[in-house]
Amino acid sequence: MQVLVIGGGGREHALVWKIMQSSKVEKIYCAPGNAGTAEIAENIPIAADDINSLLEFASENDIGLTVVGPEQPLVLGIVDRFEEKGLRIFGPNAKAAELEGSKAFSKDIMKKYGLPTAEYKTFTSAESAAEYIKTKNHPLVVKADGLAAGKGVLLCQTNEEALAAVETIMGEKSFGDAGNQIVVEEFLEGQEVSVLAFCDGQTVLMMDSAQDHKAAYDGDKGPNTGGMGAYSPAPVFTEIMRQKVRDKIMLPMVRAMQQEGRPYKGILYAGLMLTKTGPQILEFNARFGDPETQPLLVRMESDIIPLFEACVDGTLDQCPLKWKDETSVCVVMAAEGYPESYEKGKPISGLKEANALSGVVVFHAGTKKQEDKVLTCGGRVLGVTATGKDTATAIARAYDAVDKIKWEGIHFRKDIGHRAGG
Ligand code: AMP
Ligand code: GLY
Repeated sequence: MQVLVIGGGGREHALVWKIMQSSKVEKIYCAPGNAGTAEIAENIPIAADDINSLLEFASENDIGLTVVGPEQPLVLGIVDRFEEKGLRIFGPNAKAAELEGSKAFSKDIMKKYGLPTAEYKTFTSAESAAEYIKTKNHPLVVKADGLAAGKGVLLCQTNEEALAAVETIMGEKSFGDAGNQIVVEEFLEGQEVSVLAFCDGQTVLMMDSAQDHKAAYDGDKGPNTGGMGAYSPAPVFTEIMRQKVRDKIMLPMVRAMQQEGRPYKGILYAGLMLTKTGPQILEFNARFGDPETQPLLVRMESDIIPLFEACVDGTLDQCPLKWKDETSVCVVMAAEGYPESYEKGKPISGLKEANALSGVVVFHAGTKKQEDKVLTCGGRVLGVTATGKDTATAIARAYDAVDKIKWEGIHFRKDIGHRAGG
């Protein structure tokens, strides 16, 4: 089979790497891909949200399965368009992907079906949001309703900060139309865990847990990013908690979507806060997490293609999912300045030496190849991923590999995995 992977980040390199190991796969195309995917797949210069061109490419190139990485094409309805043409594609359709595409829609569904999530209100006017905020006297979170590349969530300790957040989102329109509506919700405290599950509309097959490090700097300081590193499994996510999350969150959500006439197929990613009173849902995403996918896929023992196919075909209840008895850690190497402005085009050295280390895979994110050089080409540049018999080993291996890689202006966190007892 020929497979098309859509996207060009670390998550997509990890997907291509895992898909390549399937005995069912002959060739992988990646659109647009990066310098890492180019080593094992054929990169196609089509943007991830250019649905017309992707559709044309898949129709003309005998693509047996398309796997969508990022949220944008899903929310834009890529799955609907491919299915209309009879092409097999893994991911939720537009109506199901609204779970990520609109935070107001997502919160309303959670509330309607009694799922655990922070108390909230949605607003389409800044004045009424401000009135509501003034009645509160504790930390709040102000969220742009639509997609904002992970940046549309503002954590506010005081009312003044919350009012300023409303101004940023609705007044200054910092996230464009994504801020036409906002959600204001209670601030939750605890550890965050990412729980990803394969879904076929009915059955939920949960993956092992992962934990992401969202803040830019060590000690969880600084601005939130797309994710500066991740590890799997998260020891804080016990077996009892796992069962609870399956029965009280994942299964009820998939049933709710079915009941709403929006059957959910693809990856359902729940961002959870483990609070003193139990797990609460921060958000649902309609796709694999980045960087969580990198440490998850290096631990996945099962062939991933039958899992994708079972989701498409509605036969997930017959599908096994096995994990290696190892832990894994992914350290994101970013460009200095990320998540604000940063420079591109810096030559990277040491990739071969890092990849040659035992248990290490260097996944590329923002990289591109120019002649025989690999250049930086984004904020998050690499996801250096290592497995080990325990977290301490995986962390040590990942940082040994990080030490071998150089370019001008590197930034990475030195404490990835610290919560797992590394
Ligand atoms: P979201 O995109 O909604 O998951 O928000 C991005 C990040 O903001 C989350 O991963 C959390 O770190 C933080 N966050 C979101 N909602 C809350 C909340 N209600 N309380 C505390 N932190 C939150
Ligand atoms: N790592 C967070 C996300 O993928 O949304």
